[in-house]
Amino acid sequence: MKKILFVTSEVYPLIKTGGLADVSNSLPKALAQTGQDVKLVLPNYHALKICAPVLERSTFKIGTHTVRLLETMLPESDVCIWLVDCPEYFDISGNPYVDYAGNAYSNNAERFTLFCRAAIEIAMNRVGLDWKADVVHCHDWQTGLIPALLSLEYQCPPTVFTIHNLAYQGIFNGLMAATLQLPGQLLTPDGLEFHGMISFIKGGIAYADKITTVSPTYAQDIQTAELGYGLEGLLVYRNQDLIGIINGIDDDWNPHSDPLIAKNYTADTLIDKKENKKALQAHLNLPIDENVLLIGLISRLVEQKGIDMILGCLPEMVTYPIQFVVLGSGDKGFEKQLHEFACAYPHKLSLTLGYDESLAHLIEAGVDVFLMPSRFEPCGLNQMYSQRYGTLPIVRHTGGLADTVVDTLPSTIENRTATGFVFNEASEGALLETIKRAAILYSFPDSWHQIQVNAMGRDFSWKSSAEQYINVYSTL
Ligand code: ADP
Ligand code: GLC
Repeated sequence: MKKILFVTSEVYPLIKTGGLADVSNSLPKALAQTGQDVKLVLPNYHALKICAPVLERSTFKIGTHTVRLLETMLPESDVCIWLVDCPEYFDISGNPYVDYAGNAYSNNAERFTLFCRAAIEIAMNRVGLDWKADVVHCHDWQTGLIPALLSLEYQCPPTVFTIHNLAYQGIFNGLMAATLQLPGQLLTPDGLEFHGMISFIKGGIAYADKITTVSPTYAQDIQTAELGYGLEGLLVYRNQDLIGIINGIDDDWNPHSDPLIAKNYTADTLIDKKENKKALQAHLNLPIDENVLLIGLISRLVEQKGIDMILGCLPEMVTYPIQFVVLGSGDKGFEKQLHEFACAYPHKLSLTLGYDESLAHLIEAGVDVFLMPSRFEPCGLNQMYSQRYGTLPIVRHTGGLADTVVDTLPSTIENRTATGFVFNEASEGALLETIKRAAILYSFPDSWHQIQVNAMGRDFSWKSSAEQYINVYSTL
């Protein structure tokens, strides 16, 4: 049994902007189920949806700031969450990283440095909790300074740094080094320095004992100039310590028991999936038609997700006998263009801007096909949720999408491994061709049904991924 300090900037259901929150919910639970002692550390944002009682555990100083450490529980688990309470940095009501206009908070460097320093105090057993970490597991740039700063401590615990998305790096003006009081020995080209600036994610990559990322293919992708964002050299240098572990998905996403969908179903009762299709069409004021191909998209509306490609396809897509359901938020330009299409084709395209967990479940259950034409995708969760719901994903061959979806080909139909539709080139033409390919297959109900059954039979549970993380911890 190991004492694992799991440090993250978002955890579902307390706060979520993307898949990191899902992973920070389900991986700690899966680790705890194997007998590990896992404690989560999270900033005490004002926006947190706290579901269990909160206790005050400790008060300590980080520089001039007084930090209170609060304790609550991760719902439906025995995993405890320690909340780093520092109102001057975290008492904000909206998104944890950006303001309402989508701009990063101007003091993000200070906010997440304080968070990292607080996590180090906890890990080193200096806050009076009588608990010293055996392993500190950090996630994404917001925690990148932990491996760097911890490396300077006497008898420090080993660290694992997980890259969920290398596109977000936490890069700040080099002059901030003084404000943040970063020790000079970390400010070198093989340390935090990055082209005259400071890179938080580099702290994780350069100093962690082991680096993981969220799929085997993405572990390769980030060692190339195309997806390495200037860090490919360092990642190649560290590749003996870099491992790709695919994310699992939580059992909250299960059509058999999901309380948020219209009618539960399994691979044996796929006929009942149609009830969800009708409920979704009714809910979104689309014409109710169980035979039309219903396509779904749930996403942050950002370039990573190929939204520009989808917009390029829309003029032709709306001429096909399909309906298209979009739930998302993000880039204001993408939101506006989607809104214009939705107004022009209300019977074809339904757009819901914003964040809606219940609708996300109903979409996964109700649609026939799920679009995920990402330009890059470290892992991606919705293509796995989709398969579990018998909803066939259309994905680009990149990162975790390549690792989790099996393309429909004569051979994979024959050997019953096909689970979706995969295309290579990041172009509108390739995406349109694949949508057409799916539409044609949809008119062969027996083949479609078999692929749904194949998809629903895939094992995307956390068990084997959690075991791989435990193996990584045991090598430290
Ligand atoms: P990323 O973390 O890059 O956004 P993932 O596929 O790993 O991509 O995870 C996205 C998660 O966020 C999924 O659980 C997805 O259902 C959810 N999600 C994204 N946008 C919305 C939204 N507008 N409403 C509800 N859930 C959303
Ligand atoms: C990131 C990635 C996504 C991944 C998620 C959880 O947000 O963009 O692909 O699934 O982290 O690891």
